[in-house]
Amino acid sequence: MEAIITDLTPYYFQDNADNDIIVGELYARAFGPARFVKAAHFLRLGNVCDYDLSYVAKIDGKIVAACRMWHIKDEAGNTAVFLGPIAVERQYRHLRIGHELMKLCLNACDATGVKIVLLVGDYSYFAQFGFERVANNLVFPLPVMDGRVLWRKTEGDANLKGRIFPFPPPHK
Ligand SMILES: CC(C)(COP(=O)(O)OP(=O)(O)OC[C@H]1O[C@@H](n2cnc3c(N)ncnc32)[C@H](O)[C@@H]1OP(=O)(O)O)[C@@H](O)C(=O)NCCC(=O)NCCS
Repeated sequence: MEAIITDLTPYYFQDNADNDIIVGELYARAFGPARFVKAAHFLRLGNVCDYDLSYVAKIDGKIVAACRMWHIKDEAGNTAVFLGPIAVERQYRHLRIGHELMKLCLNACDATGVKIVLLVGDYSYFAQFGFERVANNLVFPLPVMDGRVLWRKTEGDANLKGRIFPFPPPHK
């Protein structure tokens, strides 16, 4: 009998609009319908993913993980990039795919001079990438649970305050 050998090595690619449906389905499996009633959803609604900062992982030619990035601003015009969602298909978790995607997206942000990356998530996972809890009272389009608003700043005096909004290109 012949053995069937499948290459389980993840390969990483910059994201693009052709992936929208497949990545949307991946997020649906990871988060369910609740994703539409989260504050983060309203930072993506009417916004446009910055594919240059976003990455997918493929195994055997299929997308198995994605991390998408979105431009936002506060009411004073301070800008930042919002990270999320990041999701890895359940059967491929614990293989450091999430870790690699985070590094790629953050490196892309650093290379283009992004000063603040903001996200809503578990400090216990994202602290390893340099994220800290945000002490400011940022006002999201919907309330967010205490302790889950995190940022990674590359310039100490960069700031976000008050209400935050989607800030779609073409400002780039
Ligand atoms: C979070 C997620 C992206 C991590 O992807 P991954 O490829 O499994 O991550 P890595 O392999 O780099 O790291 C895995 C480690 O992170 C830990 N980890 C995963 N989620 C965690 C969390 N919420 N808090 C703390 N640690 C966490 C795991 O315990 C694991 O440790 P182990 O391998 O020693 O058991 C993945 O679990 C996922 O898709 N979760 C569902 C979607 C989600 O919650 N996304 C984050 C919010 S946007």
